[in-house]
Amino acid sequence: MKSKIISIGSYTPNNIVTNQDLEERVDTTDEWIVSRTGIKERPIADDSQATSDLAYEAAKIAIERANIDKSEIDLIIVGTCTPDVATPNVGTLIQKRLDLKNFPAFSIEAACSGFIYALNIADKFIKSADSKCALVVGAETLSRITNWDDRNTCVLFADGAGAAILKPSDDRGIIFSELGANGEYAELLHVPYGTSRKPKTPNEDDYTLKMSGNEVFKVAVKTLEEIAIDALVKSNLESKDIDWFIPHQANMRIIQAVAKRLELPEEKVILSMDIHGNTSAASIPLAFDRAIQDGRIKEGDTILMQSFGAGFTWGSVILDL
Ligand code: COA
Repeated sequence: MKSKIISIGSYTPNNIVTNQDLEERVDTTDEWIVSRTGIKERPIADDSQATSDLAYEAAKIAIERANIDKSEIDLIIVGTCTPDVATPNVGTLIQKRLDLKNFPAFSIEAACSGFIYALNIADKFIKSADSKCALVVGAETLSRITNWDDRNTCVLFADGAGAAILKPSDDRGIIFSELGANGEYAELLHVPYGTSRKPKTPNEDDYTLKMSGNEVFKVAVKTLEEIAIDALVKSNLESKDIDWFIPHQANMRIIQAVAKRLELPEEKVILSMDIHGNTSAASIPLAFDRAIQDGRIKEGDTILMQSFGAGFTWGSVILDL
């Protein structure tokens, strides 16, 4: 028994912030942002939109494309580090918007690895026959935890959502999935205040993401290279067997380094940070959907996905679509 992704849907807010817009706000240039990250523009939610609103839009599209009755859904898992509120979780908020009830719906908090973590958990529900139709979502409004006056971070992060419907299959589906984490690096990428330990601070900036970019970069490249090779070895595949590589869209240079190590030609690498920026848990399904919609990814393809994010957390999935 395998878990098969039968559809993907995605949603990004209409409001687009370009590199030129940011040039007017902080001391940066389009040239710096594009050459260091690959990002040209990013969707940013308007004040009325919370994470569950973006997630709901992506979910609706995935359900429609799956050609299922929404009442078939018996599990919702959302990867997000920017939930609407501390509780209830975004999974139950979407469940209610979809007018569904009486099955597990929850969020998991693994930052940029949120979608891969959610996919891994849904795969286990399906393999154990606890789910016959799962909705897996990665959704974020990172703009709400970004300091728009800090050039180190505001050029990177963005808002969006991607959703997948999974069903059991005895033919194609997820053939490999593994997660990892190392809390030793927690302070290299974190939000210092908010919620339990340090709930209140007079300084608004303390509620926003802080990143030691260069140090994160080094650990990210090393970890992602290792887990990509590991995923291939453990699933008995070679680079040439992979049709598409869909990595977390944090930085084009990280992705190029990993692709080079895997000896994957650049035509096989799906990039979307140019128009999406870094949307954390939403970035992989957003890139996935982009490549399906433009006709690159097709039924029958073998896909390697991998993520790396705050925590640090990481994970990889290989699937036959
Ligand atoms: N515009 C212009 N200059 C900027 C800038 C900006 N938006 N942001 C930083 N700089 C400056 C820095 O101040 C520094 O200046 P200095 O040398 O005078 O001190 C210089 O550019 C180099 O900064 P550095 O942080 O070393 O740049 P970098 O090449 O490492 O690129 C990142 C920065 C953030 C793009 C990169 O480190 C990165 O992508 N890191 C990993 C992100 C990631 O994977 N996150 C995990 C998942 S979310």
